[in-house]
Amino acid sequence: MAYNLLKGKKGIIFGALDEKSIAWKTAIKAYEEGAQLILTNAPMALRMGTIHELSKKTGDAPVIGADATSVEDIQNLYDTARNHFDGGVDFILHSIGMSPNVRKGKPYGDLNYEWFQKTLDVSGLSFHKIMQVAEKLDIMNEWGSIVSLSYIAAQRTFPDYSDMAQAKALLESIARSYGYRMAKIKKVRVNTISQSPTVTTAGTGVGGFDVFMEYAEKMSPLGNATANDCANYCIVMFSDLTRKVTMQNLMHDGGFSSSGMTEDMVEYLRKK
Ligand code: NAI
Repeated sequence: MAYNLLKGKKGIIFGALDEKSIAWKTAIKAYEEGAQLILTNAPMALRMGTIHELSKKTGDAPVIGADATSVEDIQNLYDTARNHFDGGVDFILHSIGMSPNVRKGKPYGDLNYEWFQKTLDVSGLSFHKIMQVAEKLDIMNEWGSIVSLSYIAAQRTFPDYSDMAQAKALLESIARSYGYRMAKIKKVRVNTISQSPTVTTAGTGVGGFDVFMEYAEKMSPLGNATANDCANYCIVMFSDLTRKVTMQNLMHDGGFSSSGMTEDMVEYLRKK
């Protein structure tokens, strides 16, 4: 059911690779809620993924290639957005994550440091870049909203998450620092949503992901939040109903982060 929460709003969605992507589900819902969109992903992902299908489902939203680590690509993206929308942007979703160390199964005690820098650049620093370029080009409309997606490994250790944990800590810190700045400059809010483990290309790339999901499911009184649940939360954060929420890391995990032990887990362990 749609509520017209984003009627007349214009947004840029980074990171829809395929229909499992959180960004994909968010784009579909944003369109249903009345938004006009521009879709973007890394040039390689445009070739490998199915983003053009998403475009068809979202009112032929333009698809613009941009490597989120490249300031020039982001500038080009925003210039195109300004022309297309004939003005500024009301919301941005940064839904980007990648670690070469995780992809190639490097143990935490034997990380490749060039890859580590790549992890930080793609998954953390790119969030700063999309905001710094937005500020310089004055692309955000007043009372706009910028959201990125994080994971609880920023606060607590999950062994196979490796250097992505540092990238998420960086991401959440950037949300606070740039959130302050964006609020002062343009009344724009900046938040991260810390999402449950979710079956996507990035998610399943982490070692032991299936066990991880089952553990989180049992440790979350409401169960894991799905990609669709996450998309709904993003919509609320883009809407005018959350204008004073900023500089927060918002837990979206069915209660996982506040649970020490659950009956489901006790029952599971007793049966073993
Ligand atoms: P996904 O694999 O569908 O999305 C990741 C996206 O990052 C892809 O579209 C990929 O092309 C894009 N990307 C990678 N390098 C890029 C670059 N240089 N420039 C532009 N885009 C680039 O997976 P998912 O799960 O939808 O990931 C979205 C976000 O959600 C990520 O930040 C991820 O860390 C976060 N997240 C995911 C969870 C999960 O379990 N799937 C849990 C918590 C957070």
